[in-house]
Amino acid sequence: MKCVLVVVLLLSIGSGGSRRRERMLWPTYDLFSSDEIPSDVQITTFLKKNESKSFVYHSLKENLQLSAIVTGCSSRVDWKITLNDSGSALTEKTSEGMQILGLRSQLGTYNFLLRAIDEDTYAHVYISTESDGPEALKGRENRKLLLRRQRNNRLAIKWDPSLVDPQGTEYCLVISSLKHHETFCGAGNLLKPEPENRTNAASENLPKCDVDPMIICTGKKTHYAFLKPQQNLRYYFDLFAINLQTNFTYLFASNTTMLSNKLKPASLKDGKLTFVNLKEMDGKAVFRFKVGRKSHDDLEVYVMPCGGAVDVQVTKRHEVIETRRTIEGFGKISVKNPQSGARYNIKIFSTNGEELRRTSGIELYATSRKKSFIPLPDLPNKPIVKEYVSLRSCDSVTVGWLPSPGQKTSHYCLVIKEGKLRYGFKQTNQCGLENRLKKSTDFAAKYCKDIKPIEGKVITQKIGQLKPGRSYIVQVTVKKHRGKTISYDLLQAQTKSKCDPK
Ligand SMILES: *[C@@H]1O[C@H](CO)[C@@H](O)[C@H](O)[C@H]1NC(C)=O
Ligand SMILES: *[C@@H]1O[C@H](CO)[C@@H](O)[C@H](O)[C@H]1NC(C)=O
Ligand SMILES: *[C@@H]1O[C@H](CO)[C@@H](O)[C@H](O)[C@H]1NC(C)=O
Ligand SMILES: *[C@@H]1O[C@H](CO)[C@@H](O)[C@H](O)[C@H]1NC(C)=O
Ligand SMILES: *[C@@H]1O[C@H](CO)[C@@H](O)[C@H](O)[C@H]1NC(C)=O
Repeated sequence: MKCVLVVVLLLSIGSGGSRRRERMLWPTYDLFSSDEIPSDVQITTFLKKNESKSFVYHSLKENLQLSAIVTGCSSRVDWKITLNDSGSALTEKTSEGMQILGLRSQLGTYNFLLRAIDEDTYAHVYISTESDGPEALKGRENRKLLLRRQRNNRLAIKWDPSLVDPQGTEYCLVISSLKHHETFCGAGNLLKPEPENRTNAASENLPKCDVDPMIICTGKKTHYAFLKPQQNLRYYFDLFAINLQTNFTYLFASNTTMLSNKLKPASLKDGKLTFVNLKEMDGKAVFRFKVGRKSHDDLEVYVMPCGGAVDVQVTKRHEVIETRRTIEGFGKISVKNPQSGARYNIKIFSTNGEELRRTSGIELYATSRKKSFIPLPDLPNKPIVKEYVSLRSCDSVTVGWLPSPGQKTSHYCLVIKEGKLRYGFKQTNQCGLENRLKKSTDFAAKYCKDIKPIEGKVITQKIGQLKPGRSYIVQVTVKKHRGKTISYDLLQAQTKSKCDPK
């Protein structure tokens, strides 16, 4: 397990405010110094292996409910109750974990004899006079410990507060990859047997890194975020409640889960532009696309990384349909003759950490409907804009680009700005492009027109009224009627520094 957890805990103690709160965030159990057990207060004692220890309980009332609860922390505990030294035992039990005994009270002195069977151990004794047994132990079957996987590889854990004394109840969560824990004191080294001299059983035993179980005390909070749980490892969660009035500590709710690192695919609707934040998903995402029953067209998947490059792969069941390839800026994957009704998985991977830092996410558009419905234009195989250097002058440049494939009229815009490409990045972020273009006003010139292209014939444009000896960035965009604007690669252009003599 990760150290992050511990840091969180220590910080929360450090900023915990009042002393009481600090103490209770990490509960302590003082050793009980008398041999007279009070009513409705949990006491803690230390038992040496095979040495009997006795306690008394004075019952002042008759014919009421009396519940005795004995908890052995790290060993089974034998316990025997006699009344008025009568010799014959009312009960003899062996506790493994917490064990409860219900009695009708009689006047007199009850004698408790406790003995650890397996090893030295701490133990709790709690005598409840609640008329129907300890309320806190009721309804445990219905209590939930809800586990929800969140993005960023976190597990959100939450629970409803105790119905019994909700204001006076605090919680500690035990997380283990080995087993469930029945008792809080038995979890880890919280109350590890120590020499007799110690009176304070275990307050400074804060959890360390890489210990199992991990113990997190949340105070009155009824939720906790488990950061970075390991994948494919089963975790057992046991939540303990501590009543501040009585120190009674009991198992409140349990659950278990195993996080699998198999990604659950998100569904991709036909013809709907979908954005995902790749950073939140640790650079991986899987989409499922179901081909419509009536569809007869190819499955077209448009991929627009918003920043860094991504790898894309298409699979059907476990069969690779389109091999993994890198897409930067804008790309389209066509699956020919998709099987109608079949489900295709589109897997997106950020190629590396550097690319993941550069990206804000990815936009996807998939469809198997008629091409004319698609709001995105196609780009030529190499969506580049070329400068005709031989036509360069001191106040103009001439550029050309291949039209968007297809016979339809498209709307082209060319924007030229003074400047140099940042780090030489030619691919532009296609996400939110329209807004950025609308907002930007610092261009030197802008030309827009509808063009019905002739397939394969280059569109050219001379851009005049520029300044001599300057660097310019040229951006060409294309847009279908009522569609989305897509940019060609950026071009770094240059004017001549000296004008040719006339
Ligand atoms: C509960 O435990 C704390 C710490 O051991 C102790 O100070 C407190 O007196 C106990 N409460 C009761 C009611 O015994
Ligand atoms: C445990 O104690 C009982 C008496 O208290 C004694 O008869 C027995 O031999 C002891 N057993 C061990 C294993 O020490
Ligand atoms: C136990 O002893 C007390 C007085 O020593 C007495 O009042 C009580 O009745 C006795 N209880 C029983 C069940 O014998
Ligand atoms: C365990 O967690 C799952 C997921 O949150 C939840 O559906 C289930 O009810 C929980 N079980 C218990 C006993 O809390
Ligand atoms: C307990 O404390 C006493 C006095 O402080 C000391 O002499 C003795 O050695 C201690 N015993 C242990 C087991 O530490």
